[in-house]
Amino acid sequence: MADLFPTDFPVFPAGFVWGAATAAYQIEGAVDEGGRGRSIWDTFASVPGKIARGDTGEVACDHYHRFREDVALLKELGVGSYRFSVAWPRIQPDGKGPANPEGLDFYSRLVDELLGAGITPCLTLYHWDLPQALEDAGGWRVRDTAERFAEYATIVHAALADRVPMWITLNEPYCSSFVGYAEGRHAPGAREGHGALAAAHHLLVGHGLAVQAMRAQAHGDEQLGITVNLSHVTPATQDPADVAAAARNELLLNRVFTDPLLAGRWPAGERELWSPISDFSFRRDGDLELIGQPLDLLGVNNYFPSYAKHAPTADEDPAYRVATQVNVVETPPAELSRTAMGWPVEPAGLGRLLRWLRDEYPGLPPIYITENGSSYVDTLAPDKSVDDPGRVAYLDGHLRAVRAAMADGVDVRGYYCWSLLDNFEWALGYAKRFGLVYIDYPSQLRIPKSSYYWYRDLIGTP
Ligand code: FCB
Repeated sequence: MADLFPTDFPVFPAGFVWGAATAAYQIEGAVDEGGRGRSIWDTFASVPGKIARGDTGEVACDHYHRFREDVALLKELGVGSYRFSVAWPRIQPDGKGPANPEGLDFYSRLVDELLGAGITPCLTLYHWDLPQALEDAGGWRVRDTAERFAEYATIVHAALADRVPMWITLNEPYCSSFVGYAEGRHAPGAREGHGALAAAHHLLVGHGLAVQAMRAQAHGDEQLGITVNLSHVTPATQDPADVAAAARNELLLNRVFTDPLLAGRWPAGERELWSPISDFSFRRDGDLELIGQPLDLLGVNNYFPSYAKHAPTADEDPAYRVATQVNVVETPPAELSRTAMGWPVEPAGLGRLLRWLRDEYPGLPPIYITENGSSYVDTLAPDKSVDDPGRVAYLDGHLRAVRAAMADGVDVRGYYCWSLLDNFEWALGYAKRFGLVYIDYPSQLRIPKSSYYWYRDLIGTP
């Protein structure tokens, strides 16, 4: 398969971190083992109709039992780093109180296995699996959850920071707040306006408290950061209505998070947009300083760009307004191809996003692309191979765009492909495959796809 790899591929600087990413609930399975408590995703997945085909994370890729095999796959791939997440309900089954030793022990063994394979662990503390007990007490709508998150971060950091140099507090607070509490497509499946804005705020407060707590007990030079999912936003036309729509979408998708995190300000326009549904009473003096503490790295997840067109919302449900009151419909250029998710493919969009970050936020910390990848319909051939040229083309294009942005002065230090394995793609279940490695779910066989070999050759090319 080495001939897949193009000889004109741009050279990345020595020391650039090549990685692959996963998340706990999407791969681990073993939901009732090791003293793990219930998370909001266990609850959500048990509600009929919430997940495609009724899939759940109960078994997933059985990574909890097969992590050594998966680390061997990472080693063979040649990555320098692996981004995984810790399941909060394995550490604190009810979201508070002392650590469950069995839970910590699982991640400690995973970390040791990685280090033994020469792979740097990059640990995400929260990839969406909130302990159900905390949701029952208000979830991210309430400030107490932010305090609980910092306590949990302290426990995990104290146990693993001697061996884990890279720490990411949250994965994609946009999804945890707006998709979970406004759209209701993700756990906990709420459709609220004020509640979703409160969730976004408390996630950021939780991030700030966790960073403070981890800094206070830092071992040395571990790097702390957060991962946000961002899309570069372009007005669909130069019509002033579309230009205004693009500004509203940029606020919702990006600035709600990047402005307080990176510029120490609340985003312009938020009150005009959302005062009909929220009085922002969840904010307290000092929160901006808490949220905007210096970071060692910024994790950026990106899959597609946004093309925003003005479109008055048709949704009459007031509870749904946070997501839709921005009155935007996505209208990507018709010539762009789509992945199996329906997401438009435009590598230059990632380049625009990176330059936008550089221009908007002076003093930006070094960027790691912590997720980028694609879902295509992969099929297992009779000879047990999986050929995925669409994914190879996606990765090729996006990595060239990253390299070009770096040549323009954007400080990108690493790239983690989403994902090492096919896995539980949230509300879409197992039907959507993002892996470099195909999972035959009935047998749990792992079969590297052509994209795996392509990525291996890229990493291995001096
Ligand atoms: C991101 C999530 C990740 C995965 C990819 C496809 O939003 O962080 O878990 O689902 O999308």
